[in-house]
Amino acid sequence: MSHRPEVGAGVDGVDRSGQTALVTGSTSGIGRETALALGRLGATVFVHGRNRTAGRRVASAIDDAGGDAVFFRAELSEVETVRNLAEAVRDRTDRLDILVNNAGAHFSEGQLTADGVERTFAVNHLAPFALTHDLRDLLPDDGRVVTVSSGIHPRADGRFDVTSIDDYDGLDAYARSKLANVLFTVELARRLDGPTANCCHPGLVPGSHLWRDASIPVRLAVGVLEHLPASLVRRIADTPATGAETSVYLAASPDVEDITGQYFADCAPREPSATATDDRLAHDLWELSESLTGISWS
Ligand SMILES: NC(=O)c1ccc[n+]([C@@H]2O[C@H](COP(=O)([O-])OP(=O)(O)OC[C@H]3O[C@@H](n4cnc5c(N)ncnc54)[C@H](OP(=O)(O)O)[C@@H]3O)[C@@H](O)[C@H]2O)c1
Repeated sequence: MSHRPEVGAGVDGVDRSGQTALVTGSTSGIGRETALALGRLGATVFVHGRNRTAGRRVASAIDDAGGDAVFFRAELSEVETVRNLAEAVRDRTDRLDILVNNAGAHFSEGQLTADGVERTFAVNHLAPFALTHDLRDLLPDDGRVVTVSSGIHPRADGRFDVTSIDDYDGLDAYARSKLANVLFTVELARRLDGPTANCCHPGLVPGSHLWRDASIPVRLAVGVLEHLPASLVRRIADTPATGAETSVYLAASPDVEDITGQYFADCAPREPSATATDDRLAHDLWELSESLTGISWS
């Protein structure tokens, strides 16, 4: 039997039946494994992505395992399509117990979206910001928001010049968006009364689609990892299934039901970079996100 994230996360005995979970970016990689695991724990899973065939396949796998799943197709680089996704979710449920903001992308070429925002920041940060806003009133008091960040976030210096692609560097843009995930979680936890908000680094998954558009040096580094002997890779890298463990832990473990505003890796709290816990920066990013999305959290 292939690796099960819920076993690695120590939550395979948890029953999530009667609960509903949305996992963005669950057509492949870490999100797919997270969705499958939450389905096996009994949750109704809303699978999301752009690839309809892959999304339906994940939803069918959950159904075949005795669960219940629905696929939602949505592009996340524009505020309007993110808000349409939220609307479609609202049409299907009046309660969302678990929201996993997992979808993420890395782009080697800089591009501005139709909203005039650097694309990595739009997909990786503004989409979770808008989606969480539009779904927050569906979260019960014991609801959970999990946002998948990355251990690369300390590379970012805390400047959010995201309406220009001058001097674009793919890895810097990616790190900036992942720093935004941690700052978003810190501020969201402060604002939510009841539901928790945590974020995580899933580990390094060299075989993931995430790196397909990376620059040549990044792809070379990832490729080297992919071709190391399995025994060695296991010690320094993850598979999508082991990469999903911390998301599944945060979504399902009773250990963290009262924990909020924290950054996790390997199913344990970790100290993020000092920049990622700067309350002033978290507040400023929140205001910037409001102005870029036209959304006001009152
Ligand atoms: N892989 C790693 O080593 C690693 C390390 C640290 C953190 N992470 C984080 O873990 C998360 C999952 O990464 P992964 O490795 O599993 O990546 P992945 O295999 O490339 O999967 C990404 C998912 O996000 C969706 N997605 C990407 N861009 C989208 C867009 N514009 N609109 C809608 N959906 C979009 C994809 O959907 P479609 O394919 O259907 O379009 C796919 O389901 C990301 O947040 C990533 O930053 C990954």
